[in-house]
Amino acid sequence: MQTTLAFDVYGTLIDTNGVVAALQKLVHDDAEKFSQTWRDKQLEYSFRRGLMQNYENFAVCTSQALAYTCAFHKVSLTDRQKAELMDIYRVLPAFSDVKTGLARLKTAGFRLYAFSNGKADALEMLLNNAGIRDLFLGVVSVDDIKTFKPSPATYGHFLQQSRAVGASAWLVSSNPFDVIGAISAGMKAAWVRRSPEKIFDPWGIDPTITVSSLVELADRIKLS
Ligand code: 2OP
Repeated sequence: MQTTLAFDVYGTLIDTNGVVAALQKLVHDDAEKFSQTWRDKQLEYSFRRGLMQNYENFAVCTSQALAYTCAFHKVSLTDRQKAELMDIYRVLPAFSDVKTGLARLKTAGFRLYAFSNGKADALEMLLNNAGIRDLFLGVVSVDDIKTFKPSPATYGHFLQQSRAVGASAWLVSSNPFDVIGAISAGMKAAWVRRSPEKIFDPWGIDPTITVSSLVELADRIKLS
C-alpha cells in the first residue's frame, strides 16, 4: 500500500497569522495578541461543539470566536470590518516552505491529501488561492460527518475517504492536539514545529517524527 499523507490545513499549510497585517490597521499594537486569542477561541469552540454534539461549521466557530475576541480585547469593530477580516481568513497565505515541500513529497510518490476542520468549499478556495491545490489528490473535510478533530471519527473518516490504512497513513500537523488525536486513532503523525518556542502536550504520546518544515519532512520521511 502506498504511503498516504494527510496535511492539516489551518496552522500547518496555511498561516492563520496572515490576518495580523490587516489587524494592525484596526487594533494596532494588539494585533498579534488579538490574532492568537481569535485562533485559540476558534479551536476551543470547535472542541466544545464536538463534545456537546452541537455542530456548526468551522466558519461559524471562526466568526463567533471573532466576536468573542473583540469583546475580550475591548475592540469595537463594525459588521463590515468583521466581514472584511472573515474575507481575509478565506485567502490566508501558505507558509513559505509549503509549496517546495509538497512538490518534493508528491514527486517522491506519496499520496497527498488536505484534511481539515474547514468546509470543503472553503478549503478548495484557500488552497487554490495559495497555488497548492493541484498538489493534492483530494480534500477531506470533517464537515461530512459533522464533528471536529480530534474526535477519532474524523481520522477514521479520513482513512475511509482516502482509501488508506492507519499503518501506512500519516497526519502532518503543527497542532499538537491533532498529532495526538491521529496517533490515538492508529495513524502515524509528523509534528511540524516551525518555531522552537512551540511546546508539545506532555500526554505521553509523542509524534512519530518532528520536523521544522515540510522541506525537512521531504528529506526525512520514507515511503513504506
Ligand atoms: C484544521 O483542521 C485544526 O485548524 C486545523 O485545519
